[in-house]
Amino acid sequence: MTTGTARVLVFGATGNVGGALVRRLAADREDVTVRAMVRTPGSADLPDGVEVVRGDLTNLDSVRAALRDVDRVFLVWPLGGGELTRAVVDLITARVRRVVYLSAIGVRDDGAPAPDPILQFHTDIEQAVRDSDVEWTLLRSGGMAANTLGWAQQVRERSTVSWVYGDGARALVHEADLAEVAAIALLTDRLVGAVPEITGPSALTQREQARAIGAAVGRTVTWEELPAQEVREALMSAGWSAAMADGALRSWASTVDRPEAPTPDYAAVTGSTGRPFEQWAIDHAGDFR
Ligand SMILES: NC(=O)c1ccc[n+]([C@@H]2O[C@H](COP(=O)([O-])OP(=O)(O)OC[C@H]3O[C@@H](n4cnc5c(N)ncnc54)[C@H](OP(=O)(O)O)[C@@H]3O)[C@@H](O)[C@H]2O)c1
Repeated sequence: MTTGTARVLVFGATGNVGGALVRRLAADREDVTVRAMVRTPGSADLPDGVEVVRGDLTNLDSVRAALRDVDRVFLVWPLGGGELTRAVVDLITARVRRVVYLSAIGVRDDGAPAPDPILQFHTDIEQAVRDSDVEWTLLRSGGMAANTLGWAQQVRERSTVSWVYGDGARALVHEADLAEVAAIALLTDRLVGAVPEITGPSALTQREQARAIGAAVGRTVTWEELPAQEVREALMSAGWSAAMADGALRSWASTVDRPEAPTPDYAAVTGSTGRPFEQWAIDHAGDFR
């Protein structure tokens, strides 16, 4: 546990993991102060006791101001690569004692070039954090259960999920599990210099995920298989680059023959079993009704 008060700045606090983390940190901890840097404070629904400051990761001055008087940072990088990334990471690591970075499973420990642009920017940020003098934890997430929120509209409107690779199986992780490990990394010394790789506790095919969502909302949700090319076009019209779309499709396709293996790290860190996808679906049923 911390000695004295831990002063934590959370980025991405309106998102999946940052949101779960601020809720966790704000709950009954007198030795922790929590600040969230958000782009639009008025629309951010954050728990009482969380100090909200306006800022944007693309604006170094706002990041510098948000860092005042904090000693720990939970860093989420939602922006892709580029020069700005290094400047922001260097600014943060020069000012705080500890950084917990939300990275991704698939980043290699030897810093070798990554197979897609997303893993590449995570690789670059991991390296920048490792190169600094901070106490760091690189919290590598597997695919998040929250990705299936992308199906919410079709489930609400048609009780069908139209997507690709229904037989692909992934061990999707509940954001609350990631937040729990992040809180341990921020507030105790147990994960300093560690690279926990966190997945959900078991792999479900996407068809099974759709069924679990149906069970959570109380009606049958069916699967409609789409051709990969159609999904590629949908991703690109949603703003994905061709390289990102191709990288994602390749990685999803691989889970048909090779279901993603759950990692043991959540259990090793927390001593309990991770929240299953079925639990995630119940927790988020309102989004699919
Ligand atoms: N999805 C997965 O399966 C997966 C797996 C492994 C790793 N990851 C990594 O996890 C990270 C995303 O985490 P998440 O899912 O918790 O986040 P998320 O739900 O996608 O939310 C993104 C957060 O970043 C904030 N944000 C966006 N642009 C910003 C900017 N310019 N300045 C400051 N804040 C900004 C958003 O705030 P606003 O409310 O202002 O938009 C929001 O709080 C990414 O780096 C991703 O690569 C994801």
